[in-house]
Amino acid sequence: MIIAIDGPAGSGKSTVAKLLAEKLNFLYLDTGAMYRALTYWLIKNNINPCLEERVVKELKKINIEFKEEKVFLNGEDVSLKIRQPLIEENISLVAKNPQVREVMVTKQREIAKNCSCVAEGRDTTTVVFPYAQVKIYLDADFSERVRRRALDFKKKNIKIEEDKLREDLRKRDEADITRKVSPLKKAEDAIYIDTTNLKIEEVVSKIYNIVLEKQEYGNR
Ligand code: DC
Repeated sequence: MIIAIDGPAGSGKSTVAKLLAEKLNFLYLDTGAMYRALTYWLIKNNINPCLEERVVKELKKINIEFKEEKVFLNGEDVSLKIRQPLIEENISLVAKNPQVREVMVTKQREIAKNCSCVAEGRDTTTVVFPYAQVKIYLDADFSERVRRRALDFKKKNIKIEEDKLREDLRKRDEADITRKVSPLKKAEDAIYIDTTNLKIEEVVSKIYNIVLEKQEYGNR
């Protein structure tokens, strides 16, 4: 079974997907981490993310792995490094590259092959797994999403001004929604959940019940 969770930054996707995967004993596939890892590689090697062809060539040099809740890039643990604001400032340039997306989507389908998984990310319900048995679109008010991002950074000991964070999130929303290839949008058959006033456990339990219903229906 595949559960795909889409939605804007700060909507709770990662936290919810991770907890849900644990609860169901499914694989957790963080697709955003893959775009983040590539962006980190480009910055580390002083490569301009706007050079589309060059970026695609670089993609062939990297191997991204998920092990024990960590992200590895060519064997290096980059789990924390890929969460830095500098990555977020540049990631939209990388994520809008159609050739990059094609390669990433193939990799993501490969990872999910032959297993049950909770896949989370901007195009998981629309492009990567349009045939997912459960599709969820998480959303929250902009100010609540800013508050959650600030909390995320604080927990990771990353210092960032709230004004900058607000502006970065606004820009990223705009880039995600308006990009030509695989823009952020709710799939017609995705279930919309507004998480603004919900606790994480409440969101997880809502989706968990949807999954159980689907499984029960499938067994009839
Ligand atoms: O979910 P996240 O914040 O880790 O994602 C970081 C960026 O990666 C986000 O701004 C858009 C991009 N992304 C994407 O284009 N497609 C995905 N499936 C996941 C993330």
